[in-house]
Amino acid sequence: MILILIIPVQGLCAENNSCVSCHEKQNPGLVADWKKSAMSKKGLQCDTCHGDAHTKSDDSAMAKRPSISTCERCHESQAKQFKEGKHAFCEVALTTGNMSKKLWKKAPEIARKSCAVCHLTMGENGGQCDACHTRHRFSPEEAKTPEACLPCHVDNHPQYESYYNSKHGAIYRTEGLTGRSPTCATCHMNNGNHKVLTSWGFFGVRKEEPDERHAECQKGVIDYLSTLGPILAPNSHRATLAEWQDVRNDMLDICSNCHARSFCQAELEKSDEVVNEANCIANDIAITARKLQESGEMNEEDLFWLFRNEVHAQRMSLYINAFHQYPEGVLKEWLHLKQVLRDVRRKKVDR
Ligand code: HEC
Ligand code: HEC
Ligand code: HEC
Ligand code: HEC
Ligand code: HEC
Ligand code: HEC
Ligand code: HEC
Ligand code: HEC
Repeated sequence: MILILIIPVQGLCAENNSCVSCHEKQNPGLVADWKKSAMSKKGLQCDTCHGDAHTKSDDSAMAKRPSISTCERCHESQAKQFKEGKHAFCEVALTTGNMSKKLWKKAPEIARKSCAVCHLTMGENGGQCDACHTRHRFSPEEAKTPEACLPCHVDNHPQYESYYNSKHGAIYRTEGLTGRSPTCATCHMNNGNHKVLTSWGFFGVRKEEPDERHAECQKGVIDYLSTLGPILAPNSHRATLAEWQDVRNDMLDICSNCHARSFCQAELEKSDEVVNEANCIANDIAITARKLQESGEMNEEDLFWLFRNEVHAQRMSLYINAFHQYPEGVLKEWLHLKQVLRDVRRKKVDR
């Protein structure tokens, strides 16, 4: 009888000191997620990632906060690919621009709950690997859904909306992850390649531009971007046409799994024309607005807000919608930019 009593009591004491048994009471949801993960099933423990320095309720500050350096011990290839792609620049992108510096100074409470959520969740300490396969489930299936990208690629960078409203998105909404229709990860992280990088990038400019008129327009775009920033972040555009073409060819290889290559090439070239148009309207707006500023009809602050609120996101959304096959989005943004151009030409500066 006595023996039977002692064994469970000792067992209980040992259990109490372990991470799981205490956290099962503290945060049952977290532990349940972990138990479903492949890593848990392979025998990894909480302390593999958090260390074993924290063991009591009152010393939790001793627990390590894992980042990419924790994961790369065992997932070297994903970490290497991640570092070669744009997601590794999330934190730098946030700290290089003047706009960002101003916001951190003037309204840190806003910066912390906006810019920082998207940029640091991904980029802090070189990279947070739980942005798409969230802790502690760490599921690759979850990361393959467009919803894994949604919290960041939305609204001002409307890739989610444009994908969602495309034929590809419609099939995904009907069928789910059957593989018949591509999701974000199919096109941007094909075969689990963690390097994300596109030809045009977010800003829709490249260093070598064979089309002379478009080259001029791109200069104008970079000029207005510097009014906002300078916000051209590291690796924001491809340095040579050859590099631009390499990335494009990789994308066409992916399209060709399901479509004729020539069909997709034609579709992407139509979208390149939209980049050209978007940049040239934005350049026209910038030239006109600068003249108004020089003649004293528009002040520095109005110029800033014109670019920030009426041109910046709309210019990029125009071609983002084209590349992701969202026709109504293309028309809507184009009409908006044309309206802004008409207004500045008529000197309607109070918009
Ligand atoms: C006796 C209970 C207990 C044990 C044992 C325990 N923890 Fe904790 N842990 C806590 C409490 C309490 C907190 C703070 C929770 C809160 O603020 O709600 C915490 C917080 C944490 C945090 C978050 C720290 C942060 O940065 O905020 C991590 C990570 C963590 N524990 C991991 C572990 C690991 C790994 C082990 C085993 C090596 C472990 N815990 C063992 C009770 C425990
Ligand atoms: C494969 C690595 C890994 C393992 C194993 C792991 N965690 Fe975590 N944990 C993370 C990551 C990544 C974060 C997020 C860190 C950050 O963003 O600062 C985190 C954050 C936390 C946090 C604080 C954030 C929150 O949501 O409350 C707690 C508490 C925590 N882990 C507890 C545990 C416990 C308990 C276990 C074991 C059941 C465990 N972790 C196992 C990777 C891991
Ligand atoms: C000590 C080695 C180790 C560390 C550290 C580690 N992992 Fe793992 N990871 C594994 C093993 C082992 C597997 C299981 C592989 C399998 O089942 O084939 C795995 C699997 C995974 C999977 C795939 C899960 C699935 O369902 O197929 C993901 C995602 C993952 N890890 C993410 C992470 C992240 C993120 C971190 C850092 C926060 C991390 N791992 C840290 C060893 C590790
Ligand atoms: C909803 C999430 C989110 C918020 C909030 C956010 N960003 Fe971003 N940011 C992104 C995404 C996603 C991209 C990349 C979009 C793309 O490539 O189409 C990006 C791109 C950038 C870039 C360009 C990087 C490059 O090289 O292409 C800069 C600079 C930037 N953001 C700064 C900021 C600043 C400053 C703030 C706050 C005023 C902010 N962001 C708020 C998600 C966000
Ligand atoms: C932008 C989203 C995203 C981020 C950030 C991300 N992953 Fe992944 N990860 C994915 C996707 C999508 C898959 C599934 C790929 C597939 O199976 O096609 C995946 C799969 C994995 C797998 C399973 C691989 C396999 O063959 O089963 C591991 C391991 C992994 N990721 C580790 C990491 C590590 C380590 C990091 C940080 C360096 C990281 N991931 C950051 C999206 C992401
Ligand atoms: C059918 C393939 C495909 C799917 C699905 C897809 N994209 Fe794209 N994406 C593209 C192409 C093509 C471009 C333009 C590449 C270039 O610059 O030439 C692009 C561009 C981008 C860019 C760079 C800036 C820009 O022009 O938009 C980001 C960021 C992006 N996509 C994110 C996403 C996200 C997030 C999803 C899911 C919500 C998604 N994409 C779905 C093919 C796809
Ligand atoms: C936590 C927020 C976050 C999540 C989740 C996220 N991203 Fe991003 N992504 C960003 C930010 C911020 C950038 C811009 C980084 C920079 O340029 O500095 C970016 C950049 C990109 C780019 C590079 C575009 C270019 O400039 O060439 C692609 C492609 C991309 N993301 C695809 C994805 C896909 C696909 C997913 C989901 C599987 C995803 N992202 C999930 C925040 C996120
Ligand atoms: C995983 C398979 C898959 C991949 C990869 C894929 N698509 Fe599709 N796509 C489809 C399917 C299925 C449809 C629906 C066909 C229909 O409309 O009958 C479709 C429809 C389309 C449509 C609209 C329908 C039409 O006939 O005009 C366009 C445009 C398109 N895809 C372009 C692309 C481009 C460009 C790429 C690469 C950047 C790409 N797709 C990658 C499967 C794919």
